[in-house]
Amino acid sequence: MQIRGSRILLTGASGGLGEAIALELARRRADLVLTARRAELLEDLARRTGGEVVVADLSVAADVDRVTEDALGCDVIVLNAGIGGDGIVDEATPEGIDQVLDVNLRAPIQTAVAFAQHKLAERSPGHIVLVGSLSGVAPTPNTFMYNATKFGLRGFAHSLGQDLDGTPVGLTLVAPGFIRDAGMFHDNDMDLPPGVRTKSPQDVADAVVRGIEHGDREVYVAPPELRAMASFAGLAPGLAARVQKLAGVSERTARR
Ligand SMILES: NC(=O)c1ccc[n+]([C@@H]2O[C@H](COP(=O)([O-])OP(=O)(O)OC[C@H]3O[C@@H](n4cnc5c(N)ncnc54)[C@H](OP(=O)(O)O)[C@@H]3O)[C@@H](O)[C@H]2O)c1
Repeated sequence: MQIRGSRILLTGASGGLGEAIALELARRRADLVLTARRAELLEDLARRTGGEVVVADLSVAADVDRVTEDALGCDVIVLNAGIGGDGIVDEATPEGIDQVLDVNLRAPIQTAVAFAQHKLAERSPGHIVLVGSLSGVAPTPNTFMYNATKFGLRGFAHSLGQDLDGTPVGLTLVAPGFIRDAGMFHDNDMDLPPGVRTKSPQDVADAVVRGIEHGDREVYVAPPELRAMASFAGLAPGLAARVQKLAGVSERTARR
């Protein structure tokens, strides 16, 4: 789909990757709807991009309904909001589990399905971008809720994508690895596994653009060595867990 002149809803717009995505889409002359909870950050970004602000909490059902309603008036939706990694088992609570499921999985599924239904009924073109993670390919210690939701989102994306093949509605899953300079990995001050390189927020924004313009089903934003490690861990999680243990990954993530 063409970005210039398209109306694009972006969730998680107040975050590190959201800002980079919003600035790139605005540079390409999209008409933006920016949504998240922190109104002041959204308003600042709206001043810089000419976007419209929708303040919403995606763990509140009525707010997800409102965002979904706004999504129906758009040509493209970029469902990027997410809550990060910690899933230390001793500290997990039912409320915390619900929060991660709601924001990372339930909200994007509800909005994407309603958007697809609306476009198919109207017979008009549309594009869905879901921001997943390499954590949807490879499990790591102390991130069980993040892994659960990102694996779920990846399964959803590939299945719904098959259902939409041959229709005017496209779907792309953007799967970042470790992103430097801004966003949850940067903010959490996490150690990298030895020998692994990062990508930038601009690389994620470029992947979103590629998905919208070319319709790729899945775009990884990670260097080849990390993609290879993730693919190996996805195919052989037991063996990968032993390698991660030897490399001290569990100790590093547990003390964040
Ligand atoms: N950064 C990385 O290295 C990395 C790697 C792989 C995947 N990702 C994925 O990239 C996406 C963006 O992450 P990021 O790095 O930009 O993280 P971030 O800087 O922490 O931003 C997270 C965004 O999600 C929004 N959000 C969180 N809880 C929300 C809620 N209850 N309701 C509405 N919005 C909510 C936040 O907005 P408010 O707080 O204002 O509500 C913020 O805009 C996420 O899906 C993440 O899983 C990031």
